[in-house]
Amino acid sequence: MKIRLAPSILSADFAHLGRDIEAVTRGGADQIHVDVMDGHFVPNISIGVPVVKSLRKATTLPLDVHLMISDPDRYLEAFVDAGANMLSVHVEVLPHLHRTITQIKKLGAKAGVVLNPSTPIVAIEEVAADVDFVLVMSVNPGFGGQVFIPHSIKKIQGVRALLDHAGNPAPIEVDGGLDLTTIEKVVHAGAEWLVAGNAIFGAGGDVEAAARAVKDKAVSAAQA
Ligand code: DX5
Ligand code: ZN
Repeated sequence: MKIRLAPSILSADFAHLGRDIEAVTRGGADQIHVDVMDGHFVPNISIGVPVVKSLRKATTLPLDVHLMISDPDRYLEAFVDAGANMLSVHVEVLPHLHRTITQIKKLGAKAGVVLNPSTPIVAIEEVAADVDFVLVMSVNPGFGGQVFIPHSIKKIQGVRALLDHAGNPAPIEVDGGLDLTTIEKVVHAGAEWLVAGNAIFGAGGDVEAAARAVKDKAVSAAQA
């Protein structure tokens, strides 16, 4: 298993994003998770293309852009041009999922598909061989700091089985409610890319130490 820590800047200080990214980088971040929300697909508005463009200048880490927007196809190129390395799109809004995945790859980014907690795994069955990663939402998207939904464990195991069956070693990313109490079980279920927002930036304390604690816990869970 290749554990990667993806701090979500949704819970960072937007007036000091560069500083916060430096801190999580020292704490062992492997990629920066960027939550894009349109106030339509999810009941919240966050950030968009210009911020990704600025982040690109502030870090050499891969930018993992999670699109919680109703019409992702319209913006794929703009996000890749701005510097996104991974783009994940929600299956709930995409009738032509295969086309969207193909387009993301053609633009030169890694293509991820995202499942909301209530979306069944079967929704990605036909593209299981094509995806670069699958993002399992372990909270309903829209806000940081929510409580982990326990059923997500079964979902992660099911997605791992689906990918294995398709002969695809693509990693599973998990997003929502991850902290020192939940991270071990998601790693044991098969998650490799771990998003954490509140657990790293929410305590208002030492961001670097918080990132390191989450990463260490995940890495030791993967070895156990
Ligand atoms: C939720 C976002 C998450 C969020 C995770 O809609 O997709 O990335 O920032 O935050 P925590 O780790 O606080 O649950
Ligand atoms: Zn996210």
